[in-house]
Amino acid sequence: MCGIVGYVGKRNAVSVLLDGLQKLEYRGYDSSGIAVIEQAQIVVEKSEGKLANLRDKIKDMTLESGIGIGHTRWATHGRPSDANAHPHTSQNGKFAVVHNGIVENYLALKEKYLAGDHFTSETDTEVVAHLLEKFYNGNFAETVIKVLDVLEGAYSLVMICADEPDKMIACRKDSPMVLGVGEGESFIASDVSALLAYTRSCMYIEEGELCILTQDGITIKNHALQLVEKEIHTITWDAEAAEKGGFEHFMLKEIFEQPEAFKRTLSGRLHGNQVHFDEFSLTAEEINQWQKIYIVACGTAYHAGLVGKQVIEKLARIPVEVEIASEFRYRDPMMDEHTLVIVISQSGETADTVAALREAKMHHCKVLAITNVVGSAIAREADYVIYIWAGPEISVASTKAYTTMLIAEYLLGVYLAQQKEMANLDERAAILEGLQQLPEVSAKLLTESYLAEVQRAAERYGMAENIFFIGRGMDWAIALEGSLKLKEISYIHAEAYAAGELKHGTLALVTEKTPVIAICVQKSTYDKTASNVKEVKARDAKVLAIINEGDTQTAKFVDQTMEIPKINNFVIPVLAVIPLQLISYYIAKIRGCEIDQPRNLAKSVTVE
Ligand code: F6R
Repeated sequence: MCGIVGYVGKRNAVSVLLDGLQKLEYRGYDSSGIAVIEQAQIVVEKSEGKLANLRDKIKDMTLESGIGIGHTRWATHGRPSDANAHPHTSQNGKFAVVHNGIVENYLALKEKYLAGDHFTSETDTEVVAHLLEKFYNGNFAETVIKVLDVLEGAYSLVMICADEPDKMIACRKDSPMVLGVGEGESFIASDVSALLAYTRSCMYIEEGELCILTQDGITIKNHALQLVEKEIHTITWDAEAAEKGGFEHFMLKEIFEQPEAFKRTLSGRLHGNQVHFDEFSLTAEEINQWQKIYIVACGTAYHAGLVGKQVIEKLARIPVEVEIASEFRYRDPMMDEHTLVIVISQSGETADTVAALREAKMHHCKVLAITNVVGSAIAREADYVIYIWAGPEISVASTKAYTTMLIAEYLLGVYLAQQKEMANLDERAAILEGLQQLPEVSAKLLTESYLAEVQRAAERYGMAENIFFIGRGMDWAIALEGSLKLKEISYIHAEAYAAGELKHGTLALVTEKTPVIAICVQKSTYDKTASNVKEVKARDAKVLAIINEGDTQTAKFVDQTMEIPKINNFVIPVLAVIPLQLISYYIAKIRGCEIDQPRNLAKSVTVE
């Protein structure tokens, strides 16, 4: 999510850091900062906003140092500001830290080890700097190990210490980082694109390894501080490919980032069979005063809301209506202090959704936002916020934001039921177990052979002029998302229908020239959907069915099947939409479309 750069060597670290941070700018960020060691003192400079602000701030300074760390921030804990920007320092100013990820137990660590400390930011990261000071025994590497032993969560960390000014130490857990090997210099970055101007020799860091960088080279040690041998790889990507992590498009990269994003969305929110949000808490009394919930959003976020309706109604038994934001605000909806309005928005800035939020507030409703962007208009103006922590989404077609929105909705549904002390304990526990399996199961789904299967389907259906998506219940909700994805990036006319509705009109359009993608993973509606699939087959349509692993029936009456691995059936939409994202991607590719920036569309829609 954030960008990290570190340098030690003969050059002036400041220009290497600024240059590296510039290369990470494509990820989008809200503040940046650097820390260097000058005459055994750590000097930190940081600034809210674009990197240009930091450059401006330091342009007349004579910062000269051969060692430093830099950071571009994508806010998670604490809004974008100078104070919350990284690097963060210890109270005595002897340690500086940059961090990517989330330290889940930072509040508990503050209480246990750092009571009485003065903190200058709202971040989880500052705790790490304070702990380094607290645990320091005259040996930087040993101290880092002690700090790592008490941290929970996902992180990449790069740290410097004024008392040992020749080295920097880095480590990672569930968060990427790569080392750059130079002649008389060493580099580290969250992303290889920040290194390419200096070196193409790199080493990859495994979880639990400690990397000690000096100008004489990089030493890697394990938890017991024993030496680990590493292979040096040569990077052959050009700068553009490096930005995309070697993927051809940001969309594909972001599809592949989903397992990591799922981990972040769940991070710190599951405690046994309980859901907890750091951001807010609600009592049964507060929840019970809401007689109705509106979910309001646009586009993909609206489609996420359609799943959210089913989740909240089933788990918390509160009636939910889902509305398109641009419709909602102009139709005088019935709402008051007994209505909760949930707004969903990746960017947190979509004009129609912001307007709907304001309309709801005017009617004295409480507003809960589900968003990706800390400090966005929607996050600032809502009463409660659930961040999806998907990380920056650059492709216009939303993928990882959609699936993490779904996860946020499952967490919310379970949370509302739990706070209301509803009796569905076992059902909630099974859903939470399913959610926890999502990172691993989704990673297994994204294999070479699965991609080959999707590409075969794309070749088969990619030249059609019209494609229908069908499904029932939650399968229909993700069919809608699949059809939006396909039309927006491949420009094929695609529509999604509730499978049972076809025979009320649309079936007239189905011929051998209209392929149908049927989502058949919801067990409760399987038999009925299967009958509808047979109806389209009888009209000679080619059918690709998305099915559950172990389903031996469907393949007998459709043309191609793609399996979704076994997981709790209620959370399966999070996985079942992935082949739909992929098939849209590969069809668009076959048709030579501008995948990351489809015609006529923009990532953040700030006009009504
Ligand atoms: C489609 C897509 C759009 C957005 C919509 C709302 O792939 O990305 O439909 O979902 O413009 O945007 P946010 O979520 O930023 O409010």
